[in-house]
Amino acid sequence: MSDIKINMSIFKEDAVAWLSKLESGSVDLVITDPPYESLEKYRKIGTTTRLKNSKSSSNAWFPIFSNDRFEELLTEIYRVLKTNSHFYLFCDQETMFIVKPIAEKVGFKFWKPIVWDKVNIGMGYHYRSRYEFILFFEKGKRKLNDLSIPDVLECKRIFRGYPTEKPVSLIEVLVNQSSEEGELVIDPFFGSGSTLLAATGNNRVTYGCDISESAHKYLMDRVS
Ligand SMILES: C[S@@+](CC[C@H](N)C(=O)[O-])C[C@H]1O[C@@H](n2cnc3c(N)ncnc32)[C@H](O)[C@@H]1O
Repeated sequence: MSDIKINMSIFKEDAVAWLSKLESGSVDLVITDPPYESLEKYRKIGTTTRLKNSKSSSNAWFPIFSNDRFEELLTEIYRVLKTNSHFYLFCDQETMFIVKPIAEKVGFKFWKPIVWDKVNIGMGYHYRSRYEFILFFEKGKRKLNDLSIPDVLECKRIFRGYPTEKPVSLIEVLVNQSSEEGELVIDPFFGSGSTLLAATGNNRVTYGCDISESAHKYLMDRVS
């Protein structure tokens, strides 16, 4: 028996179609991790065996969101956010250069990439990967809640979870930095649901969307 109040609504459809139904200026914070195209590229080249073959591979679990859809996605995210709010997007170094100019074009101020240091070494052949970027954007002006937090966040990666699953404790830092209790935090590509759990665990209201049945099943298991 738990006394945590789950204030969460989830939806199963395309992220952009879902966002287009939300009211303009109704959301306090967006934290998301789209299945960007460069994942697919590594898979096609076949350099990344985990992504190509393994059962925990992302392609076995979910479709990719193509780069040419970022403008419609970011336009919708900008529209639904309140003025004076923050937006965080997880991505790799290749996708960062695609997303940044589009986000600026639709109106966001880009502050900086925050580095998620996964502590343990990962895949790759030269300079094996240990970090991921979290791009930090702003609509209007909003102060971070704790000015002592650094731009490198150390948090161990999740092994054998949902593909690309993010640790709840990592996302909690972003939730606590950029929202207040009772505010609305959304994730249009929720995957394992880590953003939704980080938000609801910190007394925020949260909405999430994911197109894949596997994500919904995974989240239901986690919640129950
Ligand atoms: C990279 S994963 C998110 C992982 C998540 N951050 C976590 O911590 O588990 C991306 C998710 O986007 C979903 N997805 C792919 N295309 C989508 C679309 N067009 N609309 C909504 N969700 C989509 C996939 O099903 C997948 O679960």
